[in-house]
Amino acid sequence: MKIILLGPPGAGKGTQAKFISEKYFIPHISTGDIFRKNISEKTPLGIEAKKYLDEGKLVPDEVTINIMKNRLGMDDCKNGFLLDGFPRTVTQAKALDLFLNGIDQQIDKVLLIDVPKGLIFDRMTGRRVCPSCGASYHIKFNPPKIEGKCDVCNSDIVQRKDDTQSTVKDRLDVYDKQTEPLIGYYKSQGVLSIVNGTGEINEVFQNVKNILKDIHR
Ligand code: AP5
Repeated sequence: MKIILLGPPGAGKGTQAKFISEKYFIPHISTGDIFRKNISEKTPLGIEAKKYLDEGKLVPDEVTINIMKNRLGMDDCKNGFLLDGFPRTVTQAKALDLFLNGIDQQIDKVLLIDVPKGLIFDRMTGRRVCPSCGASYHIKFNPPKIEGKCDVCNSDIVQRKDDTQSTVKDRLDVYDKQTEPLIGYYKSQGVLSIVNGTGEINEVFQNVKNILKDIHR
């Protein structure tokens, strides 16, 4: 299964990706996670990407496309993958199509997680993440068992640098201008399905499974 998760920042893509990846045994590939890992390791890519992430802007297409071509060429992607945060521009989507056509493959489904903007601010400003293992929480909707501590590794959880109110606004503007056109792009390919992302986390996953049962083989 080759799936793309589309949706505004904070819609719940990363949260659902974890469940989808476990249920359907496909690797969860998040460009945001790749950039954050490189930033924390201070690699040349991380140093380059940091300035864009801190300002809520997109990392340039050619950088992102090259990373993803390498990643999708790895062995664990042979039987499918789940893309979270890529593509994010029409240029990236066309590059992905070209890459997949070259290996005689195609995207099975693009899931657009649909959440009204009003909910997104609450979700993003309340998000906390574990800097050690990457686990994600929400202070109200998905709190850790012990306040401020990661359930998985007991590290102190923190707010992402780009989850402050002003950066969230910038990221939503970037989404509207650069990523939303992908909805039309994938609709015209006949692979887009809209997931109601407003319910509780488990309800949203049920909506996802209802859509994927038609293509899971
Ligand atoms: P990235 O990490 O991809 O961020 P994003 O797309 O902005 O998405 P988020 O991670 O903010 O949100 P999400 O939809 O995954 O929501 P989550 O599940 O965490 O990208 C970061 C940056 O990297 C970009 O700004 C850009 O600079 C760069 N970048 C990445 N990809 C790029 C690309 N292709 N090209 C160029 N640059 C790129 O949920 C959010 C919160 O809500 C959590 O606290 C969660 O617990 C909670 N929550 C989730 N679901 C529910 C629910 N149903 N009910 C209640 N709470 C919920």
